[in-house]
Amino acid sequence: EDLDLGGYPHYMAKEIQEQPESVERIIRGRLDDRFGVARLDGLNLTPRELRGFSRVKILGCGSAYYAGQVGATMIEELARIPADAEAASEFRYRNPIIEADTLYIAVSQSGETIDTAFAVEEIKRKGGRVVGLVNVVGSTIARACDGGVYLHAGPEIAVASTKALTNMAIGFALIALALGRVRDLSNADGQRIIDALRAMPGQIKSILDEGPRIAEHAKEFATANSLFFVGRVRGYPVAREGAQKFKEISYRHAEAYQTSELKHGPLALIDAALPTVAIVPADELTDRNLAAVQQIKARGGAVLAVTHEDVDFGELDVPRIVVPKTEPELDPILLTIPLQLLAYHAALSLGYDIDKPRNLAKSVTVE
Ligand code: G6P
Repeated sequence: EDLDLGGYPHYMAKEIQEQPESVERIIRGRLDDRFGVARLDGLNLTPRELRGFSRVKILGCGSAYYAGQVGATMIEELARIPADAEAASEFRYRNPIIEADTLYIAVSQSGETIDTAFAVEEIKRKGGRVVGLVNVVGSTIARACDGGVYLHAGPEIAVASTKALTNMAIGFALIALALGRVRDLSNADGQRIIDALRAMPGQIKSILDEGPRIAEHAKEFATANSLFFVGRVRGYPVAREGAQKFKEISYRHAEAYQTSELKHGPLALIDAALPTVAIVPADELTDRNLAAVQQIKARGGAVLAVTHEDVDFGELDVPRIVVPKTEPELDPILLTIPLQLLAYHAALSLGYDIDKPRNLAKSVTVE
């Protein structure tokens, strides 16, 4: 087992560091520069069929569900098709309406999560078209789907998903390209996304190089009993995933909230004992995000911002983790990487079992 660790202290550390290569693997051979599109033969969908969907519904559990939320936003932005993600664990129990013109996407690292597998079965029973975004080749969910896109992240051992999750988000970008380029996404815009995807392994590497600095912040945040992770629109699923990781391995209460909703309730909780990790990308919502940071600071709350170089914090005295800018639609992918390191180093400083957190399984195969 130690050999597999390749010199890393934990599988989670190893899998975080593997991301530049695992991202190379999911895009390899799938980017078509001539037509600004993604080549996804495994989907088993003709351009005409792709054009026929008027809605996308993504189903997954845990971190895969949050990756699905990132994916839904990408698909709406790039393909302009209504898309949303739902916890697969709830879907089957609410007599879901299955429509012939909806593309269902089941997302799962293991391909064995029973809740997601049952959701796929429910869709198929009712005649829906479901494709998989799955890591493990030949797994139950991969086999049950009508087609799909393999993640090619390589084996993931740590319970807390990192490299598979990043590839899920990239897989959604590829699907968004495929759906977008049979609609109104231009060749040039398709190419803009392709170029950004190609640059991503190098950008991830530069975030990983910031590990020691992120570790310092993590040590500080690990002493708090409770934290907020906040973001809005594209940043909200990033916050959800950040909080999830923090909870899973550092056993600290971490709650994700839409930054815009803070003022509608949870702001009452903010004080010096409750720090916030705020996702503040350089985008059309920067000013609003900064105003929220200001409100938190005014109530004595500490803030750590995960942000871009161009964001001007002015007078606000806020420690920052700066990630490289990519195309706006893809920002969530890079904004999530430092949150993996934050959770990892928090758990490390607290001395917990990082790869096998208590009460959790890598893959939940029973209900
Ligand atoms: C378990 C794991 C989570 C994971 C979820 C979905 O609950 O603890 O980390 O996100 O299952 O797993 P899957 O293999 O379907 O992506």
